[in-house]
Amino acid sequence: RSTKFYDFKVQTTRITKLCNTKDIPTINGMYPGPAIYAQEDDKVIVRVTNESPYNITIHWHGIRQRLSCWYDGPSYITQCPIQTGQNFMYEFTLVQQKGTFFWHAHVSWLRATVYGAIIVYPKKGVPYPFKFPYEEHIIILGEYWMKDIMQVEQAVLASGGAPPPADAFTINGHPGPNYNCSANDFYKIDVVPGKTYLLRIVNAALNQEHFFAIANHKLTIIEVDAEYTKPLTTDRVMVGPGQTLNVLVAADQPIARYSMAMGPYQSAKNVSFQNISSIAYFQYYGARENDLSLSAALPRFDDNLAVKTVMDGLRSLNPVAFPKEIDKNLFLTIGLNVQKCRSKNPQKDCQAKGGGVMAASMNNISFIKPNISILEAYYKKINGYFTQDFPGVPLKFYDFVNGAPNNAPNDTNSLNGTRTYVLDYGTRVQLILQDTGTVTTENHPIHLHGYSFYVVGYGTGNYDPETANFNLVDPPYMNTIGVPVGGWAAIRFIADNPGAWFMHCHLEIHLSWGLSVVFIVKNGDGPLERLPHPPADLPKC
Ligand code: C2O
Repeated sequence: RSTKFYDFKVQTTRITKLCNTKDIPTINGMYPGPAIYAQEDDKVIVRVTNESPYNITIHWHGIRQRLSCWYDGPSYITQCPIQTGQNFMYEFTLVQQKGTFFWHAHVSWLRATVYGAIIVYPKKGVPYPFKFPYEEHIIILGEYWMKDIMQVEQAVLASGGAPPPADAFTINGHPGPNYNCSANDFYKIDVVPGKTYLLRIVNAALNQEHFFAIANHKLTIIEVDAEYTKPLTTDRVMVGPGQTLNVLVAADQPIARYSMAMGPYQSAKNVSFQNISSIAYFQYYGARENDLSLSAALPRFDDNLAVKTVMDGLRSLNPVAFPKEIDKNLFLTIGLNVQKCRSKNPQKDCQAKGGGVMAASMNNISFIKPNISILEAYYKKINGYFTQDFPGVPLKFYDFVNGAPNNAPNDTNSLNGTRTYVLDYGTRVQLILQDTGTVTTENHPIHLHGYSFYVVGYGTGNYDPETANFNLVDPPYMNTIGVPVGGWAAIRFIADNPGAWFMHCHLEIHLSWGLSVVFIVKNGDGPLERLPHPPADLPKC
């Protein structure tokens, strides 16, 4: 096993997109940022030096941070932000992990431009469980705003309403020809007829789930969230923010230029979004540039069935031992709601506000970030920053799906707070995630830090233990689950990695509105079951 070292300089970089020039936060001046390459079980060290005016942290999405919670990166959960002029050395080992991951800023909305891929190859001599591809390409889906992203974020939160849609969707940072001034700002893969390509697809977008398809070509999914799946061939895929997907594409069509497209999947009702697709090209050698390209058939923006069809086919390739029995079964509602104002102290802070602001909650608790990191407060036993009373069932039950809640949850009364749920080391946990419909139902990409989990079941409507179908044979092993719109998903993991682990909706606006919870996993007894001491250069708040 070896050590891979990377130097990440956080900078502001002037770029021009969509006929608009502005300064954006980047790593090493690159947008998207640099890719990290390593092998399974390698150690990775990334020195982050902050030369920008922004406070920043970096999260290594999907890396389980086995016994290295301090380096996970979510701001105010495991660390304070790295301030201007400071640096922090992230150090972690890719314990039994390989595949496609990504890294992204985990503070404010800086993730809009601060992201890049992490590619982890199998150990030397270990083959892929599929035919070795001729070539591989990273495909990162993103969203671009012409305005300064910090201003966009502040304006949205100040307004209390929904965010403005992005000005463009992007593939590897390129809007593509469907947008103004972008006729030549597109990504292209040149392909050799007859060869097979591996595409490592990452959705790094802020606020939108996306479909992806290539004209006239099939996609064979072989990995989801950096875990192998049984091969699943499909015409299109849906990728939620936070999800990664490896697909094989055979260049088996007549020589031509084919479009690769991303377009919105929008399951919520009455929200404004951009119904435009971003185009890149899959172009055979020998095709002429000005040949008309064949356009990819993306599903309609609200095609829930297209999403379900792929989900139905996902199976672990080698289901490893996973919990058939469970010790803790938590039921968590996920939903948007309206509150007077989002504050820990509404009595004092909400007086002046009028109609209400958008908020989001789990089990009727809307999460408020503390002023120092939860992990540090927990480790050093500093009181007053969080409580340990997150409820394992919703505070209020209601008819989740039918919009008109039965037992009238007055969600203006949802509680705000920094509540955590504490798990003993080794607990076999099941979470039933239930989408709710107070404002609108919606597919939420729920991401858990520190673990991958088995998706043992999902369905539409209210979860009903009597009728729910579970797959206890070969469920997919993921780190981000798109909970079906108006439906539920059941996930399982064993809490054997001590630390403070964030679980949240990976739609950034929902995270800002409080759709998250923190699990504190206690130390076990053995020497390899304990959280290490905090690193000396851990940033201070
Ligand atoms: Cu990729 Cu907490 O996120």
